Formats: sequence, structure tokens, C-alpha cells
Amino acid sequence: MIQFGIIARNFSSSSAVQSAIKNVTVIGGGLMGSGIAQVTAQAGQNVTLVDVNSDVLAKSQKSIQNSLGKVAKKIYKDNPQEAEKFMTESFARIKTSTDPVSAVQGTDLVIEAIVENIDVKHTLFQKLDSAAPDHTIFASNTSSLSINEIASIVKRKDKFGGLHFFNPVPVMRLLEVVRGSETSDTTYNTMMQWGKSVGKTCVACKDTPGFIVNRLLVPYMAEALRLLERGDASARDIDVAMKLGAGYPMGPIELVDYVGLDTTKFILDGWHKKFPDQALFKPIAIMNKLVAEGKLGVKTGEGFYKYEKK
Ligand code: 3HC
Repeated sequence: MIQFGIIARNFSSSSAVQSAIKNVTVIGGGLMGSGIAQVTAQAGQNVTLVDVNSDVLAKSQKSIQNSLGKVAKKIYKDNPQEAEKFMTESFARIKTSTDPVSAVQGTDLVIEAIVENIDVKHTLFQKLDSAAPDHTIFASNTSSLSINEIASIVKRKDKFGGLHFFNPVPVMRLLEVVRGSETSDTTYNTMMQWGKSVGKTCVACKDTPGFIVNRLLVPYMAEALRLLERGDASARDIDVAMKLGAGYPMGPIELVDYVGLDTTKFILDGWHKKFPDQALFKPIAIMNKLVAEGKLGVKTGEGFYKYEKK
């Protein structure tokens, strides 16, 4: 059972945190982008969700509707009419677009949640820098790249920072707010305030690899895979051990499947390249093999475990 108290509180107008941000553009219609667009719309702000692929956007809209249904059921369990109203109104606040440049015209905040590739991010932000209004804040939801490195391409370095969400975004209550070396106090404070306005508890972190959560979580998941690789314990037993012995909601191997083997591998590989002597970041053969076979976890129906297709 997950505590939705925070989400519920976020919708009672008396306690809602106000933000100067009214219009948000989320770039990237994957799992994270869809979740970010959803929580923004739930908080009463207008969102444009952008992806270059219209099929991806159609899939995002479906997953947002599903997720809104779950949230509405939880908050308005005894009031189906209010639940329906909440879902319809939240969904109506989300527009979609395949053109990032036109989508940022009237926006206050851009959150990028696209592929973890520095060159692709640079190309995007360079275009957006000349298209977006001067006051617009740019943020990246990167899990492992450097905010300073991503921001190096834009002129508005003082208006650039990191907003790192967790999957599933509508459920996980944390938001890491990352200051780059040139992020201004005003930008940082606005990002903090905005995070609270969408119902998240914000923590601050410097621009350091993995910020707080991934710097701890990714080596932990990697160590679990190394236990498995050495044959010290089965995947099932490792997961049961951490759920029942440490109170985690998911075991580490389940979590790798949930986050995605490709994402986990990408993070580890990037850090291994940067810090080749750090044993915690070394490649993991059993994970690399599954990734090469296209077994990326829950999203492909198989990773370390098999999943029923939904
Ligand atoms: N939208 C809305 N509600 C959702 C949802 C979604 N996408 N997914 C689950 N829920 C709701 C369910 O409806 C259910 O509500 P209920 O309590 O009213 O029944 C509740 O959440 C619990 O869901 P389930 O019963 O389906 O399953 P669990 O109790 O196992 O919870 C979980 C699922 C929330 C995913 C939980 O297992 C969990 O917290 N796992 C750990 C997730 C985690 O660690 N995330 C961080 C990953 S790292 C990351 O994202 C960073 C990145 O950079 C890599």
C-alpha cells in the first residue's frame, strides 16, 4: 500500500503551494515525461507534452489516463463524480505537440526528459534557447549526466538546473532539485517552489554524478546483480531478502527490471567511463547480455524475470 496522502493534500486548494510557473513544456513522451506532465496537470498548471514521434505521444496519453484513473480512485474513492471531474480536468490541461520550438513559445518552464545522450540534449537546448522567452527556466530530468555539461550550450546558464523525478512519477514523492555552478538563486528558489506546487518533497543537491538517490541506488542494484552473477543467491532470494530484511518496497533485481536494464546499464557505463578505477561502476556481464538480447525488463516483458504482456 502506498501513501497517497501527499497527493491528496496537493489537491485541496487550501493547502496547495502556489508557484510562479503556470505553463510548462515537457520534452520527451516516455515514462518519465508522461509522469511529469501528469503531476503538473494535476496541480492545475497547463502542460504541453512534446515528442517528435506522434505514436509515442498517443501511448503517453493512454498511460496518463490510466494513471490518472488510479490517482482519482485513491483520492475520491467515495465520490465517483469528483473523481471523473478530476480526471477530465487534469487530462484537458495536457496538450501534445511534435514541435519543440513552437511548444516553448509561451512557456515558463521547460523540463527535458529525452534520451540520455549529451549531443542530442545539446541540439535540443540550443534550439530552445533561441525560441523560448527570456524568463523561461530550463531543466533536465537527467539521471546521470552533468547539469553543467548539458547547460554549457545555452546562453541562459543562470536559468538552468536539474529536476530529477522518480518512477512512477505520480507515486514517488521525491524531487531532487539540482543546482549547476551557474544556476541563480532566483532559478533555484523557483524550481524548489514549483516542485512543492506539484506535490513533491524537494531535496537539494549539487551537480554530482547520480545526485543523491541514483548515486546510492545504482551501486546497490549493481552489487545485487554481482551477487547473482557470482551465484551467491538466486534473484528471488535476493529480492525477498531486501524486502523482508530491509523493508524496501521492491527487491534490487525487481527494481532493475522496473527501471529498465538499458537505463541501468547506461548509467553504469557512463560512470565507468568517467571513473574507470571505481569497482562499483564496473560493467556487469549478465546485465549486458540481457540488454544485447533486447530483454530490458518490465517494458519489454522480460528482464531478470518474465512479465505478462498488458
Ligand atoms: N500511477 C498512479 N498510481 C500508481 C501507479 C502509477 N503509475 N503505479 C502504482 N500506482 C498505485 C497503485 O494504484 C496502488 O494504489 P493502491 O494503494 O490504491 O492500491 C499503489 O500505487 C501501489 O501499487 P501496486 O499495488 O500496483 O504495487 P506496489 O504496492 O508494489 O507499489 C510501486 C508499486 C509504487 C512501484 C512500489 O513497488 C515502489 O515504490 N517501488 C520502488 C520504486 C522505486 O524505487 N522507484 C525509483 C526508481 S529510480 C528512478 O526512477 C530514478 C531514475 O533516474 C532511474
